[in-house]
Amino acid sequence: MGSKLTGCGSATPSLSISNDDLSKIVDTSDEWIAARTGIRNRRVLSGNETLRELSVQAAKKALEMAQVNADDVDLVLLCTSTPDDLFGGAAQILSEVGCTNAFGFDITAACSGFIVGLITATRFIKGGGIQNVLVIGADALSQFVDWTDRGTCILFGDAAGAVLVQACSADEDGLLGFCVQSDGNGQKHLNCVSSNIESILSKTNGVPSFPPKKATFSRIEMNGKEVFRFAVRCVPQSIEKALEEAGLPASSIDWLLLHQANQRIIDAAASRLDIPSDKVISNLANYGNTSAASIPLALDEAVRAGKVKAGDVIAASGFGAGLTWGSAILKWG
Ligand code: ACO
Repeated sequence: MGSKLTGCGSATPSLSISNDDLSKIVDTSDEWIAARTGIRNRRVLSGNETLRELSVQAAKKALEMAQVNADDVDLVLLCTSTPDDLFGGAAQILSEVGCTNAFGFDITAACSGFIVGLITATRFIKGGGIQNVLVIGADALSQFVDWTDRGTCILFGDAAGAVLVQACSADEDGLLGFCVQSDGNGQKHLNCVSSNIESILSKTNGVPSFPPKKATFSRIEMNGKEVFRFAVRCVPQSIEKALEEAGLPASSIDWLLLHQANQRIIDAAASRLDIPSDKVISNLANYGNTSAASIPLALDEAVRAGKVKAGDVIAASGFGAGLTWGSAILKWG
């Protein structure tokens, strides 16, 4: 039993925030942000917009492209670190999409979430009895960013992207190889912890306190230099491992599709793998780092623009908080 990608879709909020807009609220400039990250604009949820709505739109577009009815979907995986509901958003989303016969749950792995979800989908299909899996990557990190911290607020945006993964015969299999890894020792470099945990650790000196305070999440804390070093070291290694499992050389890659965090990270990985820039998919200039949404959002744009075609081999890699990272060698269509 194999699995193949047959549809994709995406959705972004209407409000666009430029680097110049940010330079009005923190001490930064378009030149600094563009040179250090490649980012020029990001979309941010506003008004009544919700991540759930974006996810529903992205999922519907993926089903439409794949020409699959919502009630033929068996499983919906919502990859997100920022669900509208702490208890998970997949069930509500699948109901709104009309997936009346599906089961769904959330996967939390920050910016690696979509790759983890994609691989999970293929494992469910391999297990048998599952034909159609919707994998949605969606995040709204704007809600957890400290908009007074110029080191982080320039990076993130909100979005949702989705793919439909369908069961197929083993010789049509579109997942050629993969590699997933995590290292909790690096959590200190990138996190957004519960403020309750923060106060317990700092104030009680080990004395139990009861009743517990209502928890809220603090802001995103990041050591940019450490995260940068981690990404440049681990992403090419992870893609090399996935290629080895696929039995393919790097020269067989038609498209390099990395989590859209920083153009310098993307360029460094491409150079290490010897992949020319015209085979690199990049749209972070327009959206910034949209966490679990960034890979399906960039894939959707590339497919709809006619760049990625049926049979193309894509090396996709996600990396981020956890720390977690993972790569998949995929065949589109
Ligand atoms: N505008 C102007 N100056 C700034 C800004 C800003 N927005 N931010 C920092 N600076 C200043 C710093 O204060 C520092 O000044 P100093 O030399 O006087 O002390 C100087 O610029 C250099 O700062 P660095 O932090 O060393 O800059 P760096 O080159 O490392 O770039 C960046 C920072 C862009 C954040 C980079 O480290 C990066 O992209 N790291 C990876 C981050 C990432 O991808 N995170 C997401 C992972 S995905 C997930 O799971 C959420």
